[in-house]
Amino acid sequence: MIAEALNFAATWPVTGPENRAHIRSSVNLWARARRCASAWKAHEENCHKAVAIKAGGLRLRRTVVVLGSGLVRDVPIMALAQKFDTVVLIDRVHLASVRAWLSWKKLDNVRLIERDLSGTDDLLAGRAPEPLAFLRQVPYLDLVISANLISQIALGVGARLEGQAPGQLPQDAVAQLVAAHIDGLFALPCTPLLLTDTAFSIIDHSGHVHERSELLAGVTPPKPFGAWDWTLAPPGEESPDYRIVHHVIAA
Ligand SMILES: C[S@@+](CC[C@H](N)C(=O)[O-])C[C@H]1O[C@@H](n2cnc3c(N)ncnc32)[C@H](O)[C@@H]1O
Repeated sequence: MIAEALNFAATWPVTGPENRAHIRSSVNLWARARRCASAWKAHEENCHKAVAIKAGGLRLRRTVVVLGSGLVRDVPIMALAQKFDTVVLIDRVHLASVRAWLSWKKLDNVRLIERDLSGTDDLLAGRAPEPLAFLRQVPYLDLVISANLISQIALGVGARLEGQAPGQLPQDAVAQLVAAHIDGLFALPCTPLLLTDTAFSIIDHSGHVHERSELLAGVTPPKPFGAWDWTLAPPGEESPDYRIVHHVIAA
């Protein structure tokens, strides 16, 4: 609890006022990642392998962008910083713990950008969402990795829809934003990599699936080249009686 409070307090002044409301969920993610480190290990290794496949196939390695970089656990940041001229990490919150780790490792070619990647502002302004259009201005872009971000965008916008007055965001906002992210990623003039959870299951000790839901609002992602299950919450994390398992793809 003390570590979480310190991380929260140190992140507050280095985060823009418009994103401070999200610091708590980033700190919660950080704490959960520490508690569930062994359950998450295989998932993180699978993400790293997918990144290595895409980065290894590039002729040029100038700039790589990581969307939803968060705790920088899903991408092999040391390898990326060695192989690429510049690594750009984009998230709406960069925790103080992540910033401190990056500077301790002296990763001088890593840049942090704080940005809302959802595209919600476009929808609120009555425009077609183009959340990744800004990447077309980034020079020498060779690889863009969407790192387990879109299900979080979907959850965040879904929660906002529930609480909003009628007539603000359209009812199909989540599907529009998920589709805009995927279309925008794969339309970039560089190699795209989509890492995303697509569904979750709640499973009891006997292996019985109590609930299964998809996470991409009905949007079909591109054909994956890799897929695996990620035990997001092992027994004891959410409940002693069940585990929560997310299905993840690399596309
Ligand atoms: C499941 S975490 C991804 C973990 C991360 N890839 C890692 O390696 O640790 C989702 C991330 O998406 C970020 N996020 C959620 N909604 C966002 C938004 N609208 N814009 C930018 N980042 C967002 C969260 O802050 C969080 O860091």
